[in-house]
Amino acid sequence: MKSDKPLLEIIGVDKHFGSQHVLKNCTLSVAQGETVVLIGPSGSGKSTLLRCVNLLESIEGGSIFFRQGEITKPGVEPHRLRQDIGMVFQNYELFSHLTAAENIMLAPMTVLGVSRAQAEAQALELLGKVRIPDKADSFPDELSGGQQQRVAIARALAMKPKLMLFDEPTSALDPEMIREVIDVMADLSAEGMTSIVVTHEMGFARRAANHIVFMENGEIIENAPSDKFFGGEVSQRAQRFLDQILH
Ligand SMILES: Nc1ncnc2c1ncn2[C@@H]1O[C@H](COP(=O)(O)OP(=O)(O)O)[C@@H](O)[C@H]1O
Ligand SMILES: [Mg+2]
Repeated sequence: MKSDKPLLEIIGVDKHFGSQHVLKNCTLSVAQGETVVLIGPSGSGKSTLLRCVNLLESIEGGSIFFRQGEITKPGVEPHRLRQDIGMVFQNYELFSHLTAAENIMLAPMTVLGVSRAQAEAQALELLGKVRIPDKADSFPDELSGGQQQRVAIARALAMKPKLMLFDEPTSALDPEMIREVIDVMADLSAEGMTSIVVTHEMGFARRAANHIVFMENGEIIENAPSDKFFGGEVSQRAQRFLDQILH
């Protein structure tokens, strides 16, 4: 059933770490099928905001709605929610004693009760999708960083998430591997996967983002449609940040 309501609504979220106000009245909506690129200086709260969406952090004020249900009210089970929200971090923590395929098969089998044969068929399909169809039997230490990160993406996709959160997925990679991970993420966006991507790869943002969100000091300073943002309609603060990362 198609709905006009956003898939994700973050409304007035506040959070402190000790005396530090790390999220200040943050409001952000993400529609079904949209890709939002989240940028901002180190320490501005980007990771914390993503972690709140996944209930890896609690919030002190405001609310978050996902698929129209409030996930920040008491009684929501984080592990249930995380079945629908895939997260990929900078450091792809694959299980080193499992092959690429086994890493991808694990959660569907243990959490969803999918049969081994079915999980394996899906893993092979996903390895094709992330463009490493011949790496099913490789162990993580036999894969490049870019290949490991793509296994991590396939592992998240195996749970058939409704939303993907990427937190600087390419920042630990050598430059020549960034592109292959970016290409996979851009494919996902083109297929309509709803995503929030923390990245400073502005090439990806140009290709795939519907909205660019700029955070600074725990505040969402700017939330601009991609064409406006890249058309030069950018606040001075966002422009200063862009100048720093692009030069
Ligand atoms: N678990 C934590 N305990 C205390 N402070 C934290 C914790 N996680 C993050 N912070 C602080 O919160 C602020 C925002 O961090 P973070 O969300 O990681 O920023 P970003 O991802 O934009 O670099 C930073 O000042 C960081 O030091
Ligand atoms: Mg971060």
